[in-house]
Amino acid sequence: PPLSEILNLHDFEYIARAVMPEKAWAYYSSAADDEITNRENHAAYHRIWWRPRILRDVTHVDFSTKILGHPTKMPLYITATALGKLGHPDGELNLTRAAAKHGVIQMIPTLASCSFDELVDNAKPGQVQFLQLYVNKDRSITEKFVRHAEQRGIKALFITVDAPQLGRREKDMRQKFDAEDPAEVTENKQQDKVDRSQGAARAISSFIDPGLDWKDIPWFQKITKMPLILKGVQCWEDALQAYDMGLAGVVLSNHGGRQLDFSRSGIEVLVEVVRELKKQRGLNFPNEKFQLFVDGGVRRANDVLKAIALGATAVGVGRPFLYAFSSYGFEGVDHALNILHDEFEMNMRLLGARNLKEVVPEMVDASSLQSH
Ligand code: FNR
Repeated sequence: PPLSEILNLHDFEYIARAVMPEKAWAYYSSAADDEITNRENHAAYHRIWWRPRILRDVTHVDFSTKILGHPTKMPLYITATALGKLGHPDGELNLTRAAAKHGVIQMIPTLASCSFDELVDNAKPGQVQFLQLYVNKDRSITEKFVRHAEQRGIKALFITVDAPQLGRREKDMRQKFDAEDPAEVTENKQQDKVDRSQGAARAISSFIDPGLDWKDIPWFQKITKMPLILKGVQCWEDALQAYDMGLAGVVLSNHGGRQLDFSRSGIEVLVEVVRELKKQRGLNFPNEKFQLFVDGGVRRANDVLKAIALGATAVGVGRPFLYAFSSYGFEGVDHALNILHDEFEMNMRLLGARNLKEVVPEMVDASSLQSH
């Protein structure tokens, strides 16, 4: 169907399922084990209800903000998702271009299909990009990559901490990974050996170091000046430790339900992190010095605004953009961001919020979240 018939981000998923090669669909859509966490990522947002305010002049609404000090037109970023060329020949470049057009930030994955330099070279002057890092068992490879990224102007490093071993994504594992197919080779040559029998995720991830530890954090702080954020925190205790070690923030995430099944949703974890960091360190959120991000299951600006109300600085969106470019290339991602933009405008008006500072905790009833 023409893009004009795509009315929301869910629509891209239905189209992608119909038009994508089976192998690509399996890799993008799969989640761990029985996919309970993947389902919960959506369901958790359905337990939060609004308490909107009325009779405020909402002629003009502004939902721009800053992420780690960098401006963004919407309180979301394009999160890191590997193997973009499985879905479209231009791979992650589709995201780089759409991010530039819409003034939002792209997080480049370690396992992008396009090379890291290609994604940086194709950014517009001044376009902000972050980097997602999988830490290699061979730390000299990681060190070289991190130093190179900083030198190329990457503004923040998101270290993925929820994947000491890849989860079992059985839909993906039933597909054979073909290391000869150019779409399946990542340019960032991090992998040591490729086991082709167990799907795309397992084939590309054998280099990831399960020995990564809190003890490694000072080493990262030594080799780079980029702000460090842990991606994949799932309880307040680890968020507190990240804060105490001087990190710039955490992403409350279960990796799109692709790692530990029965992990809670990021939005659920957000509530306890905000509560405990206030109680134990006197922090208020959103907070410029220590920023909280959430990802997983976000499909509407309405979802994003719930996370903002509860204290997040911004929210990551993954699969919808993959489905958008797999079906329509750059124009698909462009259209997805237009949809989100229109949804933000409408929802802010209906909430009675003229800017994101006015999207406050009192506007949500989150009492049905278990962690409340
Ligand atoms: C991911 N994600 C991910 N995360 C990461 O740190 N490194 C990676 O290489 C990848 N790769 C990846 C591939 C695919 C196909 C998906 C769907 C996800 C996880 C991603 O950053 C994010 O946490 C989730 O995708 C968010 O959930 P939604 O928005 O996809 O529901």
